[in-house]
Amino acid sequence: MCNLLHQAKEYTSFIMVEFTLPKNSKVVKGIDHSLKNNSENTRKLIIYRWDPEEDKNPRLDRYEIDLNKCGPMVLDALIKIKNEIDTTLTFRRSCREGVCGSCSMNIDGINTLACLKPMAEIKKDITIYPLPHMRVIKDLVPDLKKAYQQLESIKPWLSSNNSNKIDVIKKDKRENKQTPEERAKLDGTWECILCFCCTTSCPSYWWNSDEYLGPAVLLQASRWINDSRDNKKKERLKELNNSMKLYRCHSIMNCARSCPKGLNPAKAIAEIKKAIVTEK
Ligand code: SF4
Ligand code: SF4
Ligand code: FES
Repeated sequence: MCNLLHQAKEYTSFIMVEFTLPKNSKVVKGIDHSLKNNSENTRKLIIYRWDPEEDKNPRLDRYEIDLNKCGPMVLDALIKIKNEIDTTLTFRRSCREGVCGSCSMNIDGINTLACLKPMAEIKKDITIYPLPHMRVIKDLVPDLKKAYQQLESIKPWLSSNNSNKIDVIKKDKRENKQTPEERAKLDGTWECILCFCCTTSCPSYWWNSDEYLGPAVLLQASRWINDSRDNKKKERLKELNNSMKLYRCHSIMNCARSCPKGLNPAKAIAEIKKAIVTEK
């Protein structure tokens, strides 16, 4: 017993190592852009800032906006800040309608789309960071290169082994039709806008992003597997039947919770696993 205690003490002193953060990685307090006028209807936003061209730590800048002169969404506030307060603030956006997927970021601790997130839903100051666990290019812009390479790897387009059939369709200028039932099988997957809110909230992806494809790409894979016009289902499933690419999903469900379009990538992943077993 005594020996065990002694060993435990030695082990404890062994693991009490001191960690230091890499240079310039600590997020520090940034610039305060308080409002000068006396509006009573204001909101504060605390926004992550980092510029690769400056050899400085990331910082959290504070902005105050007049809600009487701003739209209701977080993206409206970001655009207002960029237009009127600080032109250096960098973020992606395009459609402002929840369609393009480019304004995904971490707002109030949750990955979501800035254009679909009403400021009124957030009770305290609005904190905004880039999507987590991705390399940051600048401010709120993550590097999605790896995620898009992974998307490319699942061949997200219609493929057919039957080139005769495709040739006939092309020659006769016919449509490649589906029945309503076949088309319905794509519901829950075609709506995905590739914002990667799910992938960047998946703990399995955080730790295995080199090999695990992650929920967004796997949901896309299931969209093509379930398409009646595509007849490479067997090849697609064979390609995915890999301990790292697919089976790193442990059904933690963070992906479904964070999807701003209400999709369920975890369910799509479970169905791919089932199809691999039943198609054999
Ligand atoms: S269910 Fe799978 S894909 Fe979704 S968050 Fe969990 S591990 Fe990731
Ligand atoms: S499944 Fe949802 S969260 Fe994931 S990429 Fe598609 S739309 Fe975004
Ligand atoms: S700007 Fe297109 S989804 Fe938000």
